[in-house]
Amino acid sequence: TTPKRVLTGITTTGIPHLGNYVGSIRPAIAAANEAIARGDGDAFFFLADFHALIKCFDPDEIHRSTRAIAATWLACGLDPQAVTFYRQSDIPEIPELAWVLNCSCAKGLMNRAHAYKAAVDINAAKEDVDPDFGITMGLFSYPVLMAADILMFNATHVPVGKDQVQHIEMARDIAGTFNFKYKPLFIQPNAVVDEDIPLLTGLDGRKMSKSYGNTIPLFGDGNPQVDPQKALKKAISQIVTNSQAPEEPKNCNECTIFEIYRAFATKEEIEELAAHYRRGIGWGEAKEILFNKINDEIAPMRQRYFELMNNPKELEEILQMGAVKARRVAQKQLDKTRRAIGI
Ligand code: TRP
Repeated sequence: TTPKRVLTGITTTGIPHLGNYVGSIRPAIAAANEAIARGDGDAFFFLADFHALIKCFDPDEIHRSTRAIAATWLACGLDPQAVTFYRQSDIPEIPELAWVLNCSCAKGLMNRAHAYKAAVDINAAKEDVDPDFGITMGLFSYPVLMAADILMFNATHVPVGKDQVQHIEMARDIAGTFNFKYKPLFIQPNAVVDEDIPLLTGLDGRKMSKSYGNTIPLFGDGNPQVDPQKALKKAISQIVTNSQAPEEPKNCNECTIFEIYRAFATKEEIEELAAHYRRGIGWGEAKEILFNKINDEIAPMRQRYFELMNNPKELEEILQMGAVKARRVAQKQLDKTRRAIGI
């Protein structure tokens, strides 16, 4: 049997918020650390900055976001000694492999990609607009670059959100085509979708998402003038509640404060707060309890985050160490690939 190799990429747009922390950062790091402790395979985590280019054309934003995301994952406990943590654009072997894989990828396969089809559908709904209007080759061939990310390292398990499962299927397909045409060099990866991780609720009661503008910052909002702890408190104070009076008994099941609390508290603490709701709790007090709970967990990480953000040299050294480790693997795999195709 092939050893287990976990690999996942993080697109470098935006600044991580509490929903990203609960939904992907915290569980991914916990899973990696548990696997390492068990001696069960190895793990690759990378900053997918080439992927970010398909949707973000602001160089400062790309740069800022890459640093903030790297610092966040490290601050949240990703151990760069134990895993391989690198920036995609530091590994020139990846775009080279992507080209080779382009030549083993049917165009029709890409025509069926959800993200591309959604973009075409938006154009099709408009009058007198070309179906491919505004669609770049980057968007169209995104799944091939993603296949290169994965196949380069012969990853066996790729933890992703549901929206990415199709891309993993495509990587399997591309690997299969290459293996059949030349020789069996690439392992077909499996998507790992964790159904148990709940989506965090946002300030307005909908799913927490940057596109809804309802997020709670994880380590401040990126503005150095704002005290991150105050920013957290302020965001929590903006959670929408109903107009029940403090002493009224409350239903914890339809409450955003309670929903978020669930993601941070122990079973006993959750039961205790539910009892407090039934007895009657003021929204101000509930928000205070929530703030303290979240802050207790993230305050130590926040300190490390700002240390790394204020020390770009240290952050860069960590990423360069990761690049060296990743390139050792990538160069071998690319060498084999070149030989297989006759180049
Ligand atoms: N496309 C992924 C996303 O948007 C990010 C990504 C890029 C990725 N390359 C990858 C994820 C390889 C897993 C494996 O979430």
